[in-house]
Amino acid sequence: MVDFFGQDVLSTKSLSKSEIEKVMITAEGFLPYANKEKTTEILKGKLMASLFYEPSTRTKLSFESAMQRLGGRVVSVVGIESSSLAKGETLSDTAKVVETYADVIAVRHSQPGAPREMADAVDIPVLNAGDGAGEHPTQALLDLFTIQNERGKIDGLTIVLVGDLKYGRTVHSLAYLLAHYDVNLILVSPDQLKMPAEVTNDLAEKGVVFSETEDFEESLKQADVCYMTRIQKERFADPAEYDRFKDVYILTKELVEQSNPEMTIMHPLPRVGEISLNVDELPGAAYFRQMRNGVAVRMALLSLVLGASL
Ligand code: NCD
Repeated sequence: MVDFFGQDVLSTKSLSKSEIEKVMITAEGFLPYANKEKTTEILKGKLMASLFYEPSTRTKLSFESAMQRLGGRVVSVVGIESSSLAKGETLSDTAKVVETYADVIAVRHSQPGAPREMADAVDIPVLNAGDGAGEHPTQALLDLFTIQNERGKIDGLTIVLVGDLKYGRTVHSLAYLLAHYDVNLILVSPDQLKMPAEVTNDLAEKGVVFSETEDFEESLKQADVCYMTRIQKERFADPAEYDRFKDVYILTKELVEQSNPEMTIMHPLPRVGEISLNVDELPGAAYFRQMRNGVAVRMALLSLVLGASL
Protein backbone atom coordinates (compact mmCIF):
# COMPACT_ATOMS: atom_id res chain seq x y z
CA MET A 1 0.00 0.00 0.00
CA VAL A 2 1.71 3.19 -1.16
CA ASP A 3 -1.21 5.48 -0.73
CA PHE A 4 -4.26 4.87 1.45
CA PHE A 5 -6.73 6.10 -1.15
CA GLY A 6 -9.26 3.35 -1.92
CA GLN A 7 -7.47 0.86 0.34
CA ASP A 8 -8.82 -1.45 3.02
CA VAL A 9 -7.49 -1.36 6.57
CA LEU A 10 -7.85 -4.97 7.72
CA SER A 11 -4.68 -5.70 9.65
CA THR A 12 -1.74 -3.77 11.01
CA LYS A 13 0.63 -6.54 9.94
CA SER A 14 0.74 -5.28 6.37
CA LEU A 15 1.32 -1.60 7.26
CA SER A 16 4.76 -0.13 6.58
CA LYS A 17 6.40 2.28 8.98
CA SER A 18 5.79 5.20 6.64
CA GLU A 19 2.10 4.31 6.45
CA ILE A 20 1.89 4.11 10.23
CA GLU A 21 3.52 7.51 10.50
CA LYS A 22 1.23 8.94 7.87
CA VAL A 23 -1.77 7.95 10.01
CA MET A 24 -0.15 9.44 13.15
CA ILE A 25 0.62 12.78 11.49
CA THR A 26 -2.80 12.97 9.86
CA ALA A 27 -4.50 12.16 13.19
CA GLU A 28 -2.55 14.95 14.90
CA GLY A 29 -4.04 17.40 12.40
CA PHE A 30 -7.54 16.17 13.17
CA LEU A 31 -7.28 16.61 16.95
CA PRO A 32 -8.88 20.08 17.05
CA TYR A 33 -11.77 18.74 14.95
CA ALA A 34 -12.19 15.63 17.11
CA ASN A 35 -12.04 17.87 20.20
CA LYS A 36 -14.87 20.06 18.87
CA GLU A 37 -12.71 23.17 18.51
CA LYS A 38 -12.97 23.31 14.71
CA THR A 39 -15.35 21.96 12.11
CA THR A 40 -14.85 20.60 8.61
CA GLU A 41 -16.92 19.15 5.78
CA ILE A 42 -14.22 17.43 3.75
CA LEU A 43 -16.31 14.25 3.44
CA LYS A 44 -19.57 16.01 2.59
CA GLY A 45 -21.66 13.75 0.36
CA LYS A 46 -19.90 10.55 1.49
CA LEU A 47 -21.67 7.76 3.32
CA MET A 48 -20.18 5.25 5.73
CA ALA A 49 -21.90 1.92 6.44
CA SER A 50 -21.38 0.98 10.05
CA LEU A 51 -21.90 -2.78 10.41
CA PHE A 52 -21.51 -3.95 14.00
CA TYR A 53 -22.38 -7.62 14.33
CA GLU A 54 -20.71 -7.82 17.77
CA PRO A 55 -21.21 -5.55 20.82
CA SER A 56 -19.46 -2.18 20.82
CA THR A 57 -19.83 1.21 22.46
CA ARG A 58 -16.63 3.16 21.84
CA THR A 59 -15.56 1.83 18.47
CA LYS A 60 -18.99 2.20 16.88
CA LEU A 61 -19.66 5.65 18.28
CA SER A 62 -16.19 6.92 17.51
CA PHE A 63 -16.30 5.68 13.90
CA GLU A 64 -19.71 7.30 13.47
CA SER A 65 -18.68 10.55 15.18
CA ALA A 66 -15.51 10.64 13.09
CA MET A 67 -17.49 10.30 9.85
CA GLN A 68 -20.03 12.92 10.87
CA ARG A 69 -17.38 15.35 12.11
CA LEU A 70 -15.87 15.10 8.62
CA GLY A 71 -19.20 16.21 7.16
CA GLY A 72 -20.10 12.70 6.01
CA ARG A 73 -23.13 10.62 6.91
CA VAL A 74 -23.70 7.18 8.35
CA VAL A 75 -26.05 4.25 7.80
CA SER A 76 -25.85 1.39 10.24
CA VAL A 77 -26.73 -2.17 11.13
CA VAL A 78 -26.42 -3.41 14.68
CA GLY A 79 -26.37 -7.13 15.53
CA ILE A 80 -26.68 -10.19 13.32
CA GLU A 81 -30.34 -10.69 14.30
CA SER A 82 -31.42 -7.48 12.63
CA SER A 83 -29.53 -8.11 9.38
CA SER A 84 -29.86 -10.45 6.42
CA LEU A 85 -26.91 -12.45 7.75
CA ALA A 86 -29.53 -13.95 10.10
CA LYS A 87 -31.37 -15.24 7.01
CA GLY A 88 -28.23 -16.98 5.82
CA GLU A 89 -26.87 -14.34 3.46
CA THR A 90 -23.11 -14.64 2.91
CA LEU A 91 -20.74 -11.90 4.01
CA SER A 92 -19.72 -11.24 0.43
CA ASP A 93 -23.33 -10.82 -0.72
CA THR A 94 -24.01 -8.47 2.20
CA ALA A 95 -20.92 -6.48 1.27
CA LYS A 96 -22.07 -6.16 -2.37
CA VAL A 97 -25.44 -4.88 -1.20
CA VAL A 98 -23.86 -2.35 1.15
CA GLU A 99 -21.50 -1.19 -1.61
CA THR A 100 -24.46 0.06 -3.63
CA TYR A 101 -25.37 2.48 -0.81
CA ALA A 102 -22.12 3.45 0.88
CA ASP A 103 -18.63 4.76 0.06
CA VAL A 104 -16.82 3.01 2.91
CA ILE A 105 -17.59 0.15 5.31
CA ALA A 106 -16.59 -0.17 8.97
CA VAL A 107 -17.30 -3.72 10.13
CA ARG A 108 -17.07 -5.65 13.39
CA HIS A 109 -17.75 -9.38 13.36
CA SER A 110 -17.08 -12.32 15.68
CA GLN A 111 -15.39 -14.35 12.96
CA PRO A 112 -11.70 -13.66 12.32
CA GLY A 113 -11.27 -12.86 8.63
CA ALA A 114 -14.87 -11.66 8.12
CA PRO A 115 -13.81 -8.09 7.15
CA ARG A 116 -11.36 -9.53 4.60
CA GLU A 117 -14.11 -11.68 3.10
CA MET A 118 -16.23 -8.57 2.67
CA ALA A 119 -13.32 -6.54 1.32
CA ASP A 120 -12.61 -9.19 -1.32
CA ALA A 121 -16.16 -8.85 -2.61
CA VAL A 122 -16.25 -5.06 -3.10
CA ASP A 123 -14.28 -2.13 -4.48
CA ILE A 124 -15.00 0.38 -1.70
CA PRO A 125 -12.62 0.50 1.31
CA VAL A 126 -13.40 -1.81 4.23
CA LEU A 127 -12.13 -0.93 7.70
CA ASN A 128 -11.85 -3.75 10.24
CA ALA A 129 -13.44 -2.58 13.49
CA GLY A 130 -12.55 -5.85 15.26
CA ASP A 131 -12.83 -9.43 13.93
CA GLY A 132 -13.29 -11.91 16.76
CA ALA A 133 -9.98 -12.84 18.34
CA GLY A 134 -8.19 -11.64 15.20
CA GLU A 135 -7.26 -7.99 14.89
CA HIS A 136 -8.42 -4.48 15.73
CA PRO A 137 -6.21 -2.25 13.59
CA THR A 138 -7.91 1.11 14.23
CA GLN A 139 -7.71 0.58 18.00
CA ALA A 140 -4.01 -0.28 17.74
CA LEU A 141 -3.33 2.86 15.70
CA LEU A 142 -5.01 4.98 18.34
CA ASP A 143 -3.06 3.12 21.02
CA LEU A 144 0.21 3.90 19.26
CA PHE A 145 -0.87 7.52 18.80
CA THR A 146 -1.60 7.66 22.54
CA ILE A 147 1.83 6.26 23.47
CA GLN A 148 3.49 8.84 21.23
CA ASN A 149 1.44 11.68 22.74
CA GLU A 150 1.78 10.58 26.36
CA ARG A 151 5.50 9.78 26.25
CA GLY A 152 6.67 12.05 23.42
CA LYS A 153 8.32 9.06 21.71
CA ILE A 154 7.99 5.33 21.06
CA ASP A 155 11.61 4.25 20.55
CA GLY A 156 13.43 3.30 23.72
CA LEU A 157 10.32 2.46 25.76
CA THR A 158 9.61 -0.70 27.72
CA ILE A 159 6.01 -1.61 27.01
CA VAL A 160 4.24 -4.27 29.06
CA LEU A 161 1.16 -5.91 27.51
CA VAL A 162 -0.92 -7.65 30.16
CA GLY A 163 -3.85 -10.07 30.28
CA ASP A 164 -5.58 -12.11 27.62
CA LEU A 165 -2.99 -11.94 24.88
CA LYS A 166 -4.45 -14.99 23.13
CA TYR A 167 -7.96 -13.73 22.45
CA GLY A 168 -7.38 -9.98 22.86
CA ARG A 169 -7.39 -8.61 19.32
CA THR A 170 -6.13 -5.14 20.23
CA VAL A 171 -2.80 -6.50 21.50
CA HIS A 172 -2.28 -8.53 18.33
CA SER A 173 -2.62 -5.44 16.18
CA LEU A 174 -0.60 -3.29 18.58
CA ALA A 175 2.29 -5.78 18.66
CA TYR A 176 2.48 -5.71 14.84
CA LEU A 177 2.76 -1.91 14.99
CA LEU A 178 5.34 -1.89 17.79
CA ALA A 179 7.45 -4.33 15.78
CA HIS A 180 8.49 -1.32 13.66
CA TYR A 181 10.01 0.47 16.65
CA ASP A 182 12.97 0.04 18.95
CA VAL A 183 11.01 -1.10 21.99
CA ASN A 184 11.37 -3.67 24.72
CA LEU A 185 8.12 -5.66 24.88
CA ILE A 186 7.14 -7.68 27.92
CA LEU A 187 4.19 -9.99 27.30
CA VAL A 188 2.47 -10.88 30.58
CA SER A 189 -0.23 -13.56 30.48
CA PRO A 190 -1.14 -16.94 31.96
CA ASP A 191 0.54 -19.68 29.93
CA GLN A 192 -2.85 -20.69 28.47
CA LEU A 193 -3.50 -17.15 27.20
CA LYS A 194 -0.15 -16.40 25.57
CA MET A 195 0.33 -14.21 22.53
CA PRO A 196 -0.27 -16.34 19.39
CA ALA A 197 2.86 -17.65 17.68
CA GLU A 198 1.88 -15.84 14.47
CA VAL A 199 2.43 -12.56 16.31
CA THR A 200 5.56 -13.50 18.25
CA ASN A 201 7.09 -14.91 15.05
CA ASP A 202 6.62 -11.53 13.43
CA LEU A 203 8.26 -9.82 16.42
CA ALA A 204 11.20 -12.23 16.23
CA GLU A 205 11.56 -11.78 12.46
CA LYS A 206 11.67 -7.99 12.86
CA GLY A 207 14.31 -8.30 15.61
CA VAL A 208 12.14 -6.89 18.42
CA VAL A 209 13.37 -7.49 21.95
CA PHE A 210 10.53 -9.27 23.75
CA SER A 211 9.96 -11.68 26.60
CA GLU A 212 6.99 -13.74 27.79
CA THR A 213 6.22 -14.17 31.47
CA GLU A 214 3.43 -14.75 33.99
CA ASP A 215 5.10 -12.45 36.53
CA PHE A 216 3.07 -9.26 36.52
CA GLU A 217 4.66 -7.47 39.51
CA GLU A 218 8.21 -8.03 38.36
CA SER A 219 7.37 -6.80 34.85
CA LEU A 220 5.74 -3.64 36.19
CA LYS A 221 9.03 -2.53 37.72
CA GLN A 222 10.40 -2.11 34.21
CA ALA A 223 7.31 -0.58 32.62
CA ASP A 224 7.26 2.79 30.92
CA VAL A 225 3.86 1.83 29.55
CA CYS A 226 1.54 -0.78 31.04
CA TYR A 227 -1.24 -1.83 28.64
CA MET A 228 -3.91 -3.80 30.51
CA THR A 229 -6.53 -5.94 28.80
CA ARG A 230 -9.73 -7.70 29.80
CA ILE A 231 -9.96 -11.49 29.81
CA GLN A 232 -12.16 -12.01 26.74
CA LYS A 233 -15.10 -13.83 28.33
CA GLU A 234 -17.02 -14.24 25.07
CA ARG A 235 -14.20 -16.30 23.49
CA PHE A 236 -14.21 -19.04 26.16
CA ALA A 237 -16.18 -22.18 25.34
CA ASP A 238 -16.13 -23.20 29.02
CA PRO A 239 -17.31 -20.56 31.55
CA ALA A 240 -15.28 -22.28 34.30
CA GLU A 241 -12.11 -21.55 32.33
CA TYR A 242 -13.02 -17.88 32.20
CA ASP A 243 -13.67 -17.82 35.95
CA ARG A 244 -10.24 -19.31 36.54
CA PHE A 245 -8.52 -16.44 34.73
CA LYS A 246 -10.80 -13.46 35.18
CA ASP A 247 -9.00 -11.83 38.12
CA VAL A 248 -5.53 -13.05 37.32
CA TYR A 249 -3.96 -9.58 36.99
CA ILE A 250 -5.32 -6.53 38.77
CA LEU A 251 -3.50 -3.22 38.61
CA THR A 252 -3.94 -1.30 41.85
CA LYS A 253 -2.78 2.17 42.81
CA GLU A 254 -0.37 0.66 45.36
CA LEU A 255 1.18 -1.57 42.74
CA VAL A 256 1.79 1.37 40.41
CA GLU A 257 3.29 3.46 43.22
CA GLN A 258 5.55 0.64 44.39
CA SER A 259 6.86 -0.27 40.95
CA ASN A 260 7.05 2.87 38.83
CA PRO A 261 4.78 5.81 39.71
CA GLU A 262 5.68 7.48 36.40
CA MET A 263 4.31 4.73 34.19
CA THR A 264 1.66 5.38 31.56
CA ILE A 265 -1.36 3.15 32.08
CA MET A 266 -3.48 2.17 29.12
CA HIS A 267 -6.51 -0.05 28.45
CA PRO A 268 -8.64 -0.32 25.29
CA LEU A 269 -11.73 -0.47 27.56
CA PRO A 270 -14.15 -1.78 28.71
CA ARG A 271 -12.39 -2.66 31.96
CA VAL A 272 -14.04 -5.31 34.11
CA GLY A 273 -11.92 -5.11 37.24
CA GLU A 274 -8.35 -5.29 35.83
CA ILE A 275 -7.67 -1.69 36.86
CA SER A 276 -8.81 -0.57 40.30
CA LEU A 277 -10.89 2.58 40.29
CA ASN A 278 -8.40 4.57 42.39
CA VAL A 279 -5.79 4.17 39.62
CA ASP A 280 -7.87 6.78 37.76
CA GLU A 281 -6.46 9.46 40.08
CA LEU A 282 -2.88 8.86 38.95
CA PRO A 283 -1.40 11.25 36.39
CA GLY A 284 -0.24 8.30 34.28
CA ALA A 285 -3.77 6.87 33.95
CA ALA A 286 -4.19 7.48 30.23
CA TYR A 287 -7.10 5.20 29.30
CA PHE A 288 -9.73 7.90 29.03
CA ARG A 289 -7.38 10.15 27.05
CA GLN A 290 -6.61 7.08 24.90
CA MET A 291 -10.30 6.63 24.19
CA ARG A 292 -10.65 10.28 23.18
CA ASN A 293 -7.88 9.82 20.60
CA GLY A 294 -10.11 7.31 18.81
CA VAL A 295 -12.08 9.95 16.96
CA ALA A 296 -9.00 11.77 15.58
CA VAL A 297 -7.37 8.53 14.43
CA ARG A 298 -10.57 7.32 12.77
CA MET A 299 -11.05 10.73 11.12
CA ALA A 300 -7.52 10.34 9.75
CA LEU A 301 -8.21 6.85 8.38
CA LEU A 302 -11.57 7.76 6.85
CA SER A 303 -10.15 10.84 5.14
CA LEU A 304 -7.11 8.94 3.86
CA VAL A 305 -9.03 6.00 2.37
CA LEU A 306 -11.60 8.34 0.82
CA GLY A 307 -8.90 10.61 -0.60
CA ALA A 308 -9.82 13.85 1.20
CA SER A 309 -7.56 16.17 3.17
CA LEU A 310 -7.91 19.25 5.32
C1 NCD B 1 -11.75 -3.83 22.63
C2 NCD B 1 -12.30 -4.77 21.61
O1 NCD B 1 -13.47 -4.67 21.21
O2 NCD B 1 -11.53 -5.61 21.17
N1 NCD B 1 -12.61 -2.77 22.89
C3 NCD B 1 -12.56 -1.67 22.08
O3 NCD B 1 -12.73 -1.75 20.89
N2 NCD B 1 -12.26 -0.51 22.66
C4 NCD B 1 -11.27 -4.49 23.87
C5 NCD B 1 -12.17 -5.44 24.58
O4 NCD B 1 -13.34 -5.60 24.24
O5 NCD B 1 -11.68 -6.03 25.55
